[in-house]
Amino acid sequence: MSNKVPKEYQVSLFNCDEYLINGELNKWKGNTTPVYSSIVLEDKNGNENKTLLGSIPDMETESAIKALNAAKNAFNRGQGYWPTLKVGERLKCMEKFVEKMKASREEVVKLLMWEICKNKTDSYKEFDRTVDYINDTIDAYKTLDRKSAKFDKEGGIHAHIRRGPLGIVLCLGPYNYPLNETFCLLIPAIIMGNTAIFKPAKHGVLLIAPLLKAFKESFPPGVVNILFGRGRKIATPIMQTGFIDVLALIGHSSSAVSLQDEHPNKNRLRLVLGLEAKNPGIILPDADLDHTVKECISGTLSYNGQRCTALKVLYVHESIVDEFNKKFAKAVDNLKYGLPWEDTFLTPLPEPSKPTYIKELINDAVEKGAKVLNKKGGKLSSNYSFPAVLYPVDNSMKVYHEEQFGPVVPIISYKDISEPLDAMAASEYGQQVSLFGKDVKKLGPLIDSLANLVCRVNLNSACQRGPDVYPFTGRKNSAVSTLSVYDALRSFSIRTFVASKDNPYNNNILEKLLNSNESNFINTDYLL
Ligand code: G3H
Repeated sequence: MSNKVPKEYQVSLFNCDEYLINGELNKWKGNTTPVYSSIVLEDKNGNENKTLLGSIPDMETESAIKALNAAKNAFNRGQGYWPTLKVGERLKCMEKFVEKMKASREEVVKLLMWEICKNKTDSYKEFDRTVDYINDTIDAYKTLDRKSAKFDKEGGIHAHIRRGPLGIVLCLGPYNYPLNETFCLLIPAIIMGNTAIFKPAKHGVLLIAPLLKAFKESFPPGVVNILFGRGRKIATPIMQTGFIDVLALIGHSSSAVSLQDEHPNKNRLRLVLGLEAKNPGIILPDADLDHTVKECISGTLSYNGQRCTALKVLYVHESIVDEFNKKFAKAVDNLKYGLPWEDTFLTPLPEPSKPTYIKELINDAVEKGAKVLNKKGGKLSSNYSFPAVLYPVDNSMKVYHEEQFGPVVPIISYKDISEPLDAMAASEYGQQVSLFGKDVKKLGPLIDSLANLVCRVNLNSACQRGPDVYPFTGRKNSAVSTLSVYDALRSFSIRTFVASKDNPYNNNILEKLLNSNESNFINTDYLL
């Protein structure tokens, strides 16, 4: 790889030495962890090295507990300024934040490209989608609040029903969408009146640093606390205190389970989890093959397959499997590999251990009878493994069971549709499926079954999370709670209401409360 990085994409060493606790940007003076990009550049001796981008604080448990205390004080058992504030005032803070965030677009996008090697178009998309998500969340909360700005009367009882915050949220995001998926948790959590402690993932960390100031300047002290470091020194001790009310995590179920296990009070802990998946593509005999190949390329290999929604196994009917395989393998070999700013479809893998892992999956499958169908499949470099199309795959192979989260595509041929259906029913996962075909007599009943095995059936298209207004969730080990602009507001809150028997004494008090502005909860203001 040449070291000629265009000027506009060059980065200088960035040592992030700040963290946010209780509205203060503190300087970290302890140990730090270097942040490398897996993008390799030539040094002056012609040797290729991964690129040092800077460093982040390797924070200790003491700071984690300080952050927890700040979040606890800001929530103050529901009596804090933030959880009792009028919805409109909280929305103003969020509006301020999103405006400030926009100013960091170029810096964050550049770091997305270097830290997680996402191509330029998708890096901009991630940033812009997050801004849209925040604006849509503000609008959705206004709609929700307008619906609550009233009284109900049933059985002689007046009720003023709203949604209230749950408490203190520990928010942990993934490396593949370090901005978008993390903010899809953090933003609804705080807008609903919760307070939060947020720790970025292992990769895609530096890009949070340019936003620290915007958080500090937009929210009251303690509402958002941002730490850097290792999970075991930060997340584990915070969970052990028992003061976390919501674990909001997008990542692997093993991390979610071990963190839940640390919490001493299980019924207190709510879960908002987006976990791994093994979304299948099912290709029926009458599928339009050219269209299907195109969708399967994007479904299996966008961002090198490092998406929880990626198609991770393809079931192709035996009558068309040879033709599909030929077209698909050719299309894979035609994909362009390059650096993120060259905007190629394939880019380096940010996790240093991923190429070896993918190679192991390929070797295991080949030992057990699969072939690599494409010429370039599995070609290794220090930070990449060219996508490998594996066929025929069966359940003796690791790639059949494991969420590969990388560039390898297992293909299985089936005779009877019960085969993929049974495999899905037996799977630990249940997020989405892509179904390719056109005969409604076949599709109809199939959709009826698939809708009960997963949470989104994509007809003749790749699996995906967006548009973000649609529900994003999964069955079994794939998710807990639902995330969409609309649903996330509900996932991070609870219905709570004031009830008052319909009599002159109470009604007089209610009227006075409504006219006095004494309560932020009881009000029928219409948020414009
Ligand atoms: O990693 C999982 C993401 O939620 C996938 O989102 O379908 O928009 O790429 P996406």
